Amino acid sequence: MLTGRHLIEPMDFTNDELNEIFDLADEMIKNPQEYAHICDGKLLATLFFEPSTRTRLSFEAAILRLGGRVIGFSEPSSSSAAKGESIADTIRTIGCYADIAVMRHPKEGAPKLASTYSNIPLINAGDGGHHHPTQTLTDLLTIRSIKKRLSNLTIGLCGDLKFGRTVHSLIKAMSRYENNRFILISPSELSIPEYIRKEVLEKNNISFIEVEKIEDAVKEVDILYMTRVQRERFFNEEDYVRLKDSYILNAEKMFRAKSDMIVMHPLPRVNEISYEIDKDPRACYFKQAKFGMFVRMSLMAKLLGVIK
Ligand code: NCD
Repeated sequence: MLTGRHLIEPMDFTNDELNEIFDLADEMIKNPQEYAHICDGKLLATLFFEPSTRTRLSFEAAILRLGGRVIGFSEPSSSSAAKGESIADTIRTIGCYADIAVMRHPKEGAPKLASTYSNIPLINAGDGGHHHPTQTLTDLLTIRSIKKRLSNLTIGLCGDLKFGRTVHSLIKAMSRYENNRFILISPSELSIPEYIRKEVLEKNNISFIEVEKIEDAVKEVDILYMTRVQRERFFNEEDYVRLKDSYILNAEKMFRAKSDMIVMHPLPRVNEISYEIDKDPRACYFKQAKFGMFVRMSLMAKLLGVIK
């Protein structure tokens, strides 16, 4: 039962519970009109302590498309955090006003802490370089819809694997399905954190290799998940400038890929996918953004308990 639950880490829900969310999202995609009023009278609070465009707007669009409404802030300077209020007090107060809340925070673990004080369902919309579970739901729904399976896949993850929270969450989630294999493509300075390598991949005997060039992976992968270098997490600008254009996916590289391979990207894109790829039928990142809105509609309907 998902009613009243929080979503803080990608593994908070079982695979069966995830399927429930994806099945409902599929229904919503087919018949959006049927769901246009299921959240009438419900209020979503968006608590964004770190900037975001698409995640915040996709949550807002999602609740509005279900008939609900939104309150919130999009930067901490316009909230009482600027006056020194604790996260525990913020969420307890918001719980007096809204029915469900979504929080993005630069500090890892902040939404988890907040959830322990929250009497309304709380969704983590990204905590530092740690997790981004609703992006993972988006990614899984995209893969399930286009590849028709979540197992037996070779997944290439490319770019900033050190700071990219979407990558950390996706590896964790895809490791729970059978026979998936990862090819991790990054400069050594941006390779996956030790805890993912040891605690997720090695501990569960998941097959993975680490390479530095897209060319070394592109022929084999079923999914190529591109990410931007996470500028805001770097300690100095020089390192960012040196690493920012490590990978640029272009038509020449795509030429070597399988005809049914899909390219995904959580967006925003900076330079890592050249615009010429957008018209390639294998480019799925804008479809992915659309799946993101529907999966958030489904998730909120379930957590609010308007659909059991
Ligand atoms: C991602 C994020 O915020 O981690 N974006 C998003 O949610 N769509 C990826 C990124 O910012 O690079």
